[in-house]
Order: sequence, then structure tokens, then C-alpha cells
Amino acid sequence: GLDISKLRAQTKAVTVDEGFVNTGSTTSDITFLDGEKGVLRYRGYAIEDLAAHCDFVEVAYLLIYGELPKLEDLESFRHNLRQHTMLHEDITKFYDGFQHDAHPMAILSSVVMALSTFYNDSLGFDDPKDIDRCVMRLMAKVPTIASYAHKKSIGQPMVYPKNSLGYCENFLHMMFSVPAEEYEIDPVHAEALNLLLIVHADHEQNCSTSTVRMVGSSDANLFASISAGICALWGPLHGGANEACVSMLERIREDGGNVAKYVEMAKKKDSGFRLMGFGHRVYKNYDPRAKIIKAACDRLLQSQQIHDPIFHIAQELEQVALTDDYFIERKLYPNVDFYSGVIYRALGIPVEMFTVLFAMGRLPGWIAHWIEMRNSPGKRINRPRQVYTGPTKRPLTPIEQR
Ligand code: ACO
Repeated sequence: GLDISKLRAQTKAVTVDEGFVNTGSTTSDITFLDGEKGVLRYRGYAIEDLAAHCDFVEVAYLLIYGELPKLEDLESFRHNLRQHTMLHEDITKFYDGFQHDAHPMAILSSVVMALSTFYNDSLGFDDPKDIDRCVMRLMAKVPTIASYAHKKSIGQPMVYPKNSLGYCENFLHMMFSVPAEEYEIDPVHAEALNLLLIVHADHEQNCSTSTVRMVGSSDANLFASISAGICALWGPLHGGANEACVSMLERIREDGGNVAKYVEMAKKKDSGFRLMGFGHRVYKNYDPRAKIIKAACDRLLQSQQIHDPIFHIAQELEQVALTDDYFIERKLYPNVDFYSGVIYRALGIPVEMFTVLFAMGRLPGWIAHWIEMRNSPGKRINRPRQVYTGPTKRPLTPIEQR
């Protein structure tokens, strides 16, 4: 019901809102969140219901196309995804050029960008079918690209996708199969991964999604826009927090498990230390995703008889932080990244792959936003203003007189 032309007529005044705390960059039909009440819904469906009843591919369909799929729609979507899981053999050669210890997020963003050199026939996007083909390619190839980055880092041969497997099972197969041995996929692991991907799938105008929309607003192609989103996600204040959080928990464990010491350190501004996995720009109540993940983490560790000291430190840290005035006053609760790393560890996923998994989960959200942005009747290039604070006009002194 918003009259976009009226809003546009009001664009004369420039306001400064660093970090965009109060600035809505767009209207959107995709994700609703109420940070005060801890509510998150994709296309109107509660995250708790989606996590309990759907698989990730179904949720991806919902985000991208706007409705939950009927059985035949889902089957056709899965079929299309299976058509595109392989990487062109020439793409695999890029991996030879990356250093062995390259961060997999750098590889992921580079190879996703490189997809636009292979599918340049459909980058004009005049035909919605071209967009859909690129959507399928991305959704299908990102797990392959990601697992190849892992295999490269450990010096093992890349494992081709196996299309008889489901989305999560296939990823685990490509991550952990080795030619010399039989690898059996543990359904509990696939289920945990499925859940993590669902809770990461969208989160309205976060830093990486806004980046995808920003880049896409110049009519940059889908691969380029998603690659930019992956770069934005990498930072430790955003998706990189899951890696940073587990590194922090490890550090506390190695330091004798003195949780209180680190809580105190986080409270001192000049320490430069923050409790990773705590706080959120929008949630000023418990992050609903963190609740779901914590419960899943509990179930997984118990069912697999895993005693991870990191999990105990996380629980202790949560308790101390939730009862400490500093955290209560600032409404700093565990966020989605706080327990996800513990689950990834239990699945045998190395820490540098954590943010890559976040990217795999967020992919359908990014795609949905890119499509929504392109189809918006009020679409314009995103071009924020600024308030200039530099020097006023000054005379120029020639170089020999400076
Ligand atoms: N540890 C200690 N203090 C914190 C923390 C933390 N994790 N987070 C915020 N604070 C304090 C700040 O110092 C500030 O205190 P002040 O009011 O006394 O100055 C206050 O809480 C508000 O913090 P801001 O940085 O202004 O909040 P902002 O909304 O800009 O940042 C952010 C949100 C980036 C998530 C922040 O809480 C943070 O750095 N958390 C740790 C990193 C993290 O977990 N990121 C993942 C976010 S979720 C996601 O992207 C998937």
C-alpha cells in the first residue's frame, strides 16, 4: 500500500544513519522479523514450523518462488537441481591456481563469480527462463564448489556429486568420501545440516543480503551479485562470527576454561574483545534461530554420545552472560552463530568451512532478494547520499611551493 512516487518526492532531505539502524532500504515480501519479540517468518511461515516440517530444498523453493511447493513442484525443482550439480571441468582447473591454504570463502566467492564467464549466454536476463537457469546453476553448484574447496585444502581428489542423493547428503558425500574407502552418510548428520541450512536461509536486510541487492541494483548479473554477498558474509561481525565463535571457545578452553575472565574482558571496551556469537542489530530478545540450534545441538551430541568440551564452555558462557547486568542492559543474547559451530564440529566439518556453510544456507535468501529487487516496480540503482564533512574550498598550492 506504499505510494513509492510520494516517497520519492520526499528524497530532497539527506539524513545520516550510520550503519543504517533506522533506514529501510526497500519494501520486501520475503522475511518478517520482530527483534523485540524474537519472531522470524519466511513468507509468513514461522521458522519453528519450517524447521520442524520441511527440508532445505523445500524452504529454498518457498523463498525463491513465494509459496510452499506442491509435491510435483518440489520433485521438478529437485530434478532441475540434479541436472546442474556438476562443475565444468575447466572450472575445476581454477582450483590448481589457488594456494593450498586459501580460505574457502575466498575460493567460493571467486568460483561463483567465475560462473559468469561460463554461462555468459544467459546473463542478459531478458528472458525469465535465463534467470531461472542461473538460479538452478547456483543452487546446484554452490555445494560442489564448496566441497571442492575443502578437498583442495586437504590435498584429496575432488569427489563428483552423486545425483541419487539428497541436497545435504550429496554435500556430505562430496566433503567426506575418499576413493579408497566406502563412506556411509549418517542420516543424523544430514538432518542436522538440513536444519542449519534452513535457519540460515534468510534474514531480511542483513549486510550480505543488502550487498546482493546493492550490487544487483546496477543490473549486475546474479553470479556477480551473489559473489559480492559471499564477500560481505565473510566478515567476523557477520557470517564469519561462527568461525570466530568456535575459535574463541577453543581459546577459552585452552586457557583453562575460565569463562568469567572472558566475560569481564568483553565488558571492557579497550580490550578490543567481544563475545563472539553474542548480540544482534535487530534481536533484542533471544534469537529464535539460536533456540532451535541449541536444542538440535543438545539432541545431536546426546544421540551421538559426543562430549565436546566446547559445548560445555558455550553453555557456561551463555549462563554467565545472561545473568550479567552488562549483557542484560544491552540486550545481548546468543545469536545464530553461537551454537552452530558446535554442530558443525560434531559433523566433522573443519572450522574454516563454517562460514561457507552459512553461505550455502543463505543462498536462496540472496536469490529471492535479488529477484524481488529486479521485479520491483520502483526499482532504481541504489545510491545512498552522504553528508560531506571535509574541508571547504581551499586554494591549490603548486607542488614546488608545498
Ligand atoms: N560482546 C560484548 N559487548 C558487546 C557485544 C559482544 N558480542 N555486542 C555488542 N556489545 C556492546 C557494544 O560494545 C555496545 O556497548 P555500549 O552501548 O556500551 O557502547 C552495545 O553492546 C551495542 O553494540 P553495537 O556494536 O553498537 O551493536 P551493533 O548492532 O552495531 O552490532 C553486532 C551488532 C555486530 C552483532 C555485535 O553485537 C557484535 O559485534 N557481536 C559479536 C559478533 C557476532 O556474533 N556477529 C554475528 C551477528 S549475527 C549474524 O550476522 C549472522
